Amino acid sequence: MTHALPHAAAPAPFAEELSTRFREAMASYPSGVTVVTTTDDQGAWRGFTATSFCSLSVDPPLVLVCLARTAQCHTAFAKADSWVVQVVPHRRADLATRFATRGVDKFGGGDFTVTAAGHPVFEEAAAVMECESYVRYDVADHTILVGRVRDVRVREVAPAVYFRRGFHALPD
Ligand SMILES: Cc1cc2nc3c(=O)[nH]c(=O)nc-3n(C[C@H](O)[C@H](O)[C@H](O)COP(=O)(O)O)c2cc1C
Repeated sequence: MTHALPHAAAPAPFAEELSTRFREAMASYPSGVTVVTTTDDQGAWRGFTATSFCSLSVDPPLVLVCLARTAQCHTAFAKADSWVVQVVPHRRADLATRFATRGVDKFGGGDFTVTAAGHPVFEEAAAVMECESYVRYDVADHTILVGRVRDVRVREVAPAVYFRRGFHALPD
C-alpha cells in the first residue's frame, strides 16, 4: 500500500547536492541501533541492522522499522507473520556491523537462541521486542514494517548510539 503525494522532481544538480546534505543531516541525528530478525519460508534465519526503528503507538503497542527493498532479507520480512527487534548494547556494536554486512554468516558465533515463534533472538540485547506483523507499506524504495509488540524483555545494559557514521556509548 502506498500513500504518496504528487511531487515534482528536482533538477539533477540540485537533487544531488540536496541528497548529500540530507545524508549529512541524518548523520548528525543520533539514534539507537537495532537488529531485526525473522525466519524465512525455508526456515532460514534472516536479519538486518536498522536505525529506522521507532515506536508508533502505545495502545495498541506498535513499532515500525523501514527496510530497503534491495535488502536480501526483504522477501523474508515481506512475508513474515512475526519478527523480533533487539536493541544493540554498546559493547556488542560488532553485532550491528555484522548484520549490516551483506553475504556474511550473520548468525554464526552462537549469540542467538530461539523464541517460541522460532525466530532467532539475541537475549543479551538492551531490549527485546517480539512483534506480530501488523501492516506493511511500500514507500519509495523501502517497506515500512509495522509490528504489534507481543512480548518485551529489558536489560540494564548501555545501548549503542549511532552518530556521524560511528557507534558511541552514552556517558554514565
Ligand atoms: C547503523 C546502520 C543502520 C542501518 N539502518 C538500516 C535501516 O534502518 N533500514 C535498512 O533497510 N537498512 C539499514 N542499514 C543497512 C542494512 O543493515 C544492510 O544493508 C543489511 O545488510 C541489509 O540486509 P541484507 O544483508 O539481507 O541485504 C543500516 C546499516 C547500518 C550500518
